[in-house]
Amino acid sequence: MKFFIDTADVKEIREAAAMGLVDGVTTNPSLVAKTSRKFRDVLIEICDIVKGPVSAEVTATQYDGIMREARELAALRNNIVVKIPLIPEGLKAVRTCSDEGIRTNVTLCFSATQALLAAKAGASYISPFVGRLDDVSTDGMQLIGEILEIYDNYDFATEVLVASVRHPMHVHQAARMGAHVATCPFSVLLQLSKHPLTDLGLAKFLADWEKVPK
Ligand code: G3P
Repeated sequence: MKFFIDTADVKEIREAAAMGLVDGVTTNPSLVAKTSRKFRDVLIEICDIVKGPVSAEVTATQYDGIMREARELAALRNNIVVKIPLIPEGLKAVRTCSDEGIRTNVTLCFSATQALLAAKAGASYISPFVGRLDDVSTDGMQLIGEILEIYDNYDFATEVLVASVRHPMHVHQAARMGAHVATCPFSVLLQLSKHPLTDLGLAKFLADWEKVPK
């Protein structure tokens, strides 16, 4: 399974990349706003750090505006994937992007029928928000299972990118289900490596090593 990091913070991206944990990056308007930097400047710096897919989101909501932004973003760097919200105007743009060879990541997905439409429109990635579904007492990982089943039934090429990941169990379940990508905040990526018995075992080894005649 591929790991994307869900942040626009270049410090976190560099650290995670140094750990070999980054196959790509996902951003969104809220994550970019947190940096207080110009969108274009942040994107170019991220694309220089990570050679894998970097998702950059449009903020227009009408077809013409979405397509204008999509072509501008795609022209910035060849590893940019245009993130488009799952709205009717967005789906129209996904189809055009697919025809023009612009890779897309369809975001704000909350149902299997939404994901079906995105795949039919030719999306490269679909981003179901599992954490936000959990927030409203709906099992977000159940949606991932349904989408993988539907995509497998019809052999869709769209990759399932598990988004709004909140904790390691989201990643655990996603990997067991065979999801293509999980995009995680840096904190969750770090948590994946943690286990109390590993810490205890290492401390014991090091303490015992002290007893070895030097
Ligand atoms: O990038 C989209 C998504 O991952 C947002 O997550 O934590 O804001 O629900 P969150």
